[in-house]
Amino acid sequence: MRQKLPDFPWDALAPYGVIARNHPAGAIDLSVGTPVDPTPAFIQNALTRHANSPGYPVTAGTVELRETLEKWARQRLGAQGDIGVLPVIGSKELVAWLPTLLESQQVLFPKIAYPTYLVGALLAKAQPTAVDIDAQTWPAADLAWVNSPSNPTGRVHSEAELRAAIAWSRKNNSVVVSDECYLEFGDGSAPTSILQYTDGDNRNILAVHSLSKRSSLAGYRAAFVVGDPAIIARMLEVRKHAGMMVPLPVQHAMVAALSDDVHVGEQRSRYNARRAILRPALQSAGFSIEHSDAGLYIWATRHEDCWDSITWLAERGILATPGVFYGDAGARHIRIAMTATDEQIAEAAARIIAEAR
Ligand SMILES: Cc1ncc(COP(=O)(O)O)c(C=O)c1O
Repeated sequence: MRQKLPDFPWDALAPYGVIARNHPAGAIDLSVGTPVDPTPAFIQNALTRHANSPGYPVTAGTVELRETLEKWARQRLGAQGDIGVLPVIGSKELVAWLPTLLESQQVLFPKIAYPTYLVGALLAKAQPTAVDIDAQTWPAADLAWVNSPSNPTGRVHSEAELRAAIAWSRKNNSVVVSDECYLEFGDGSAPTSILQYTDGDNRNILAVHSLSKRSSLAGYRAAFVVGDPAIIARMLEVRKHAGMMVPLPVQHAMVAALSDDVHVGEQRSRYNARRAILRPALQSAGFSIEHSDAGLYIWATRHEDCWDSITWLAERGILATPGVFYGDAGARHIRIAMTATDEQIAEAAARIIAEAR
């Protein structure tokens, strides 16, 4: 029997949404982290140009998409050697099902992490183990997740940390999957891909990328995995049988999105400007900011139970996420997402500063 899945964490936050919505000037939701900035028009156009789509899409992706993914991985990520590429229906789907597809039995993931790494291990009936960042301390397992920049902490792995994960993979003949879906959003530091450090030997190494945040495409469900061609071939085989295919209009939108960097730079500037506004406001209210060097979030603590911080913000009409959603090690932290309009971020900062204790 599969172990019970955790309660869906967002249900526990609902009462705080009620408190926030009671604020006379309305609620500002900085919790879920769903993009609000419009999908760039040229990507929308690529989708609608291909709206006539009577036939089934190819699970492996069109030739054009596969070429685009490979080119992007080599140019943007610094991938070398033989690589496979595979589009997926948003990266959450991949994270949740990869251990099942690979029949993993022991899965490692960071102590403070995106909850779907645990869910994926449970769905596969694998043994989940939360580990520290330093791969030299990891036990043997057949699959390990790293996530840089991290959700929720915004921590960026150093080259040495990524190389240590590769060394663990080589030593154990085990798969390392690097979830890099926030790679484009460097702030204080510039995130790099694990594929840059494999010296062209990508055996057992995968990198996961998503266009949800990079190109404000979360509604399209567009992501992909790059790395060890043999593992990707195995995944493709199962996914073909299981009907896990990216809709064809979305595949065309992905080609358009990955062929342009200008909109990514603009989005990065938006998120970083919002972080620059919220960071000092939170500090003035007694929060210490940790990591938050990249990605979409601020990871903060007021050295109290996270639910006390969540209550304090909700009373000011601001909804944030309790750190405990990401593991017990986050029980005294909160995560604040930059996924609100500039006006809302300014208003949230003003409310926090006005009522700082
Ligand atoms: C670390 C991490 N991985 C994967 C995902 C899934 O993103 P998507 O399914 O939109 O690609 C998220 C979404 O928040 C995330 O934070």
